Amino acid sequence: MTKLAQESSRIIFFIIPFSLLSFPNAAEPADTNYEEANVPEYRLPKLIKSDIRNPNAVTDWHEKRRPELETLLETHVYGKTPTNDLGPFETRMLDSDPQALKGKATRKQISIIIDASRQLSIDLLLYLPNEAKGPAPCFMGLNFYGNQTVHADPKIQINPRWMRGNTQIGIKNNRATETTRGVYHERWQIERLIDRGYALATAYCGDIDPDNYQHDFTDGVHPLFYRKEQSKPDSDQWGAIGAWAWGLSRMLDYIIESETAINADQVAVIGHSRLGKTALWAGAQDQRFGLVISNNSGCGGAALYRREFGERIHHMIKPVGYWFCGNHARFAHQEQALPVDQHMLLALVAPRPLYIASATKDQWADPKGEFLAALAASPVYELLGKTGLPTQQWPKPNTPIEDTIGYHLRDGDHAVTAYDWEQYLRFADRHFKH
Ligand code: GCU
Repeated sequence: MTKLAQESSRIIFFIIPFSLLSFPNAAEPADTNYEEANVPEYRLPKLIKSDIRNPNAVTDWHEKRRPELETLLETHVYGKTPTNDLGPFETRMLDSDPQALKGKATRKQISIIIDASRQLSIDLLLYLPNEAKGPAPCFMGLNFYGNQTVHADPKIQINPRWMRGNTQIGIKNNRATETTRGVYHERWQIERLIDRGYALATAYCGDIDPDNYQHDFTDGVHPLFYRKEQSKPDSDQWGAIGAWAWGLSRMLDYIIESETAINADQVAVIGHSRLGKTALWAGAQDQRFGLVISNNSGCGGAALYRREFGERIHHMIKPVGYWFCGNHARFAHQEQALPVDQHMLLALVAPRPLYIASATKDQWADPKGEFLAALAASPVYELLGKTGLPTQQWPKPNTPIEDTIGYHLRDGDHAVTAYDWEQYLRFADRHFKH
């Protein structure tokens, strides 16, 4: 090879992985495996221990195996969520407007005050369908850059808290401004949800715990739960994903206690990417969520660690290790030794409906690994009298498959699109509206 050819192949080598970037802050390292042929042979840890023909198998699942799996995921992946009950939290209705979205919806903005001394509150934004005949089913999810990004509605308060810089949407000096209003409306499709009779509940993840790459666990909810003299979580205690999931449960508490326009048995928890990992962990732990949706959640979400395809644990440690518990990092390059894998996380959602969505160009998130985890979780659905995934074949792009577990591989990038929402709405209709 000539010197020039060598140089240009090196340049191409660097350009390709970086151009595939699924998120502006994440670098895709050169050791990332995207070849199916390089996936190691692996054996998933057993999901169900007792013989499923045993008459006690269902009771064993609920009373023994399910709690065991939850403990394993806490210990090695997300960390333990504290159980001390600080609530009920004081809430303040900041806005209630029955004429929102040209009269189609009622918009409410509620502050759930977590720690008044540190101005820590979860600012919940609700849109409720005015045409609903009774309490409406609801989609609930955290957003990345404040409620004002989810719709151009000028009445949505601009989130005042710290945010990661993002020049694409105009976040400078770590604060949101007017320029961010509505920038992610396509990710949320609020009119479409309202027209289909659904409510939306959202809040900014940084209200609960800032998604700060210099994360030191001092400025979110973690300090509220520290022992005397403790300054950061122990290696088996919750990271940021655990905190965000906790926040989703506090949003659900509010709906159960105070929002009669929403059917609290029909709240679907949804999230994209890191917030998809969060939706899965929230839905796994808090069985009050009636349906769970993961959009492109990838490594530490729906994808199987043991495939070592796309993003891996060692890639996460430096940039985003704080999403997980300290123990997680011990499995860097040691995926085969993890006592868990993500089929276990998905199985914790059973028998409730679960939807996993991947995208063809989101190889970093290992689409096939997301499908295989859903397939491997299916026996628990069967044990509990449901069908998980209806087929064993990884479907072609844009060909959703569904029973109590749904899955699709959308053609395109790491994103949430109108196509994704069409599938979520159909799936929710099927399970909520029978
Ligand atoms: C990065 C990170 C992923 C994550 C994604 C996101 O790409 O490596 O694990 O899912 O950011 O949250 O957008």
